[in-house]
Amino acid sequence: MNGTSKPYVKYSTDELMECIDVFNVSAEAQQKIRQLLDAEKEAPNAGNFFRYYNPKSKTAQFEQMVCEKTGAKYALAVNSGTSALVAALVAAGVGPGDEVIVPAYTFFASASAVVVAKAVPVITDIDETLTLDPAAVEKNITRRTKAILPVHMLGLPSKMDELRRIAAKHNLKIIEDTAQAFGGKYKGQYLGTIGDLGCISLDAYKVIGTGEGGLVLTNDEWLYTRAQSYHDAAACWRPDRYARERKAGELFCGENYRMPELCGAVGIAQLKKLDWVNERTRAVWKQLRAEIKLPSCAKFVEANDPDGVCGYTLGILFETTEQAVSAINAKIGLGGLAAGDTRGVRDWHVYWNWEQILEQKTATAEGCPFKCPHIGKLPEYSVDMCPTTKNIMRRLATIAISPAFDAAWGSATAAKITGELNKLF
Ligand SMILES: Cc1ncc(COP(=O)(O)O)c(C=O)c1O
Repeated sequence: MNGTSKPYVKYSTDELMECIDVFNVSAEAQQKIRQLLDAEKEAPNAGNFFRYYNPKSKTAQFEQMVCEKTGAKYALAVNSGTSALVAALVAAGVGPGDEVIVPAYTFFASASAVVVAKAVPVITDIDETLTLDPAAVEKNITRRTKAILPVHMLGLPSKMDELRRIAAKHNLKIIEDTAQAFGGKYKGQYLGTIGDLGCISLDAYKVIGTGEGGLVLTNDEWLYTRAQSYHDAAACWRPDRYARERKAGELFCGENYRMPELCGAVGIAQLKKLDWVNERTRAVWKQLRAEIKLPSCAKFVEANDPDGVCGYTLGILFETTEQAVSAINAKIGLGGLAAGDTRGVRDWHVYWNWEQILEQKTATAEGCPFKCPHIGKLPEYSVDMCPTTKNIMRRLATIAISPAFDAAWGSATAAKITGELNKLF
């Protein structure tokens, strides 16, 4: 009989070389690497890129490391911060007829995830810490409110003590959008592990990344089970995958939000750099605050826990939009929305540009969840509904801080910004 019984190796040197190519390695070095890899005997079961049925799953290992790092009991790796939010909302039981409090300053995905979970976002003012204002949250609570979704914007911790008190009083879930603040802390506790659920983004622009990716963190086994179920429509990787549901609410239809193994592998390496990244940026953030001497029309954004910030952005609040715009336009290392806003640039981080919400645009004509019969009275959406946020955001200028920056960069930058701002005002 002709033929071969040699096992088919689906992933081999070719796939590894494509990954290596991402790092812009020279052709000569690539050739050497290929020779080395080809010389290795192919291992049985090499390159199983599916996380389940895989005792060496990189994604599972990454989750385990995240639990050890953050102290969260459960970590679920997913394919984006947005899918982490949707899975967390669904896990928390958010659905048709529910309202979720979302800050007016966040990336649009925080609000969009609520709509995808079939609930409606109640857009709520921030205060000058650039995070949810607890007094505004209390005002926006109705009998339909199911959850509060604080966002730790720019790596700045939200007022978690106050928000937890409000949530306990009204029996609400807290889902922390920690997309921009992995490794940040509030009073010594990792952001994302303080509320009922925490969601992290690992996309290209975040503290650390996996290319694309996200994490759901929780200490609650039932919330984890439901998030895990939703993240894999293939039907719930419980201890016994094929069993009937152990309890109502365990089996339902979901999505496929699984984190790919390649991203899990990158996550392991990136996680080892998390502390280093945050310590470097936090040190320069503190240095700039100490060394920049601001004119009387400006002040630093106060952090709710200065020792817990990620530190990659330092905010300066001016008294007026005109002052912020002229500081940004002076091109002295200050960025910010205000100048873009006066030039008509639509930034997706501020609520007044979220026309999908303000105009209730939906993918299908019946208009759910905004027109869903369960919702009753819809919050009133308008470009002016959160005047405090608008006022703050249009007075804000920011300094971006890279982990590559050191104390010498900090001193030079502080001297330059102090000099230029004091010339301007
Ligand atoms: C506050 C916030 N929430 C959610 C997301 C969504 O994360 P991802 O891009 O991983 O879907 C982002 C990403 O920019 C974000 O900044």
